[in-house]
Amino acid sequence: MPSASDPTLHPLCNSRDLVDGGLAVPFDVMYAGQTCRAFAIRHQGRAHAYLNRCTHVAMEMDWQPNRLFDDTGRWLLCATHGAVYEPDTGACKGGPCRGGLIRIDLAEHAGVVHWRSQYPVQPVEF
Ligand code: FES
Repeated sequence: MPSASDPTLHPLCNSRDLVDGGLAVPFDVMYAGQTCRAFAIRHQGRAHAYLNRCTHVAMEMDWQPNRLFDDTGRWLLCATHGAVYEPDTGACKGGPCRGGLIRIDLAEHAGVVHWRSQYPVQPVEF
């Protein structure tokens, strides 16, 4: 449900649900007319979100649910062929990725994380 003050903001999770280098929080969006999975993570204190779609092959990156970080908690990893992405920008840092992850803007305020809809990323219609 959009926030009362800004219809482009959508509640995603509580701030405490995002632990630095820990499990991601999944959510669904419409991307270019298709329902897609997305995920939010925290890295060095800041929350970030991306479409859960590898740029090598357009498939979800976590073979263990919501485990997007590598074992060190430093990099986002695609489990299929090992593409490596920067957690704070989504930029490709190694492996077979072709360009960076598609970023979704977040806003964090008063202990709640919201994602921002912005074409082509829109809320799923029910
Ligand atoms: S599908 Fe992600 S690295 Fe190949």
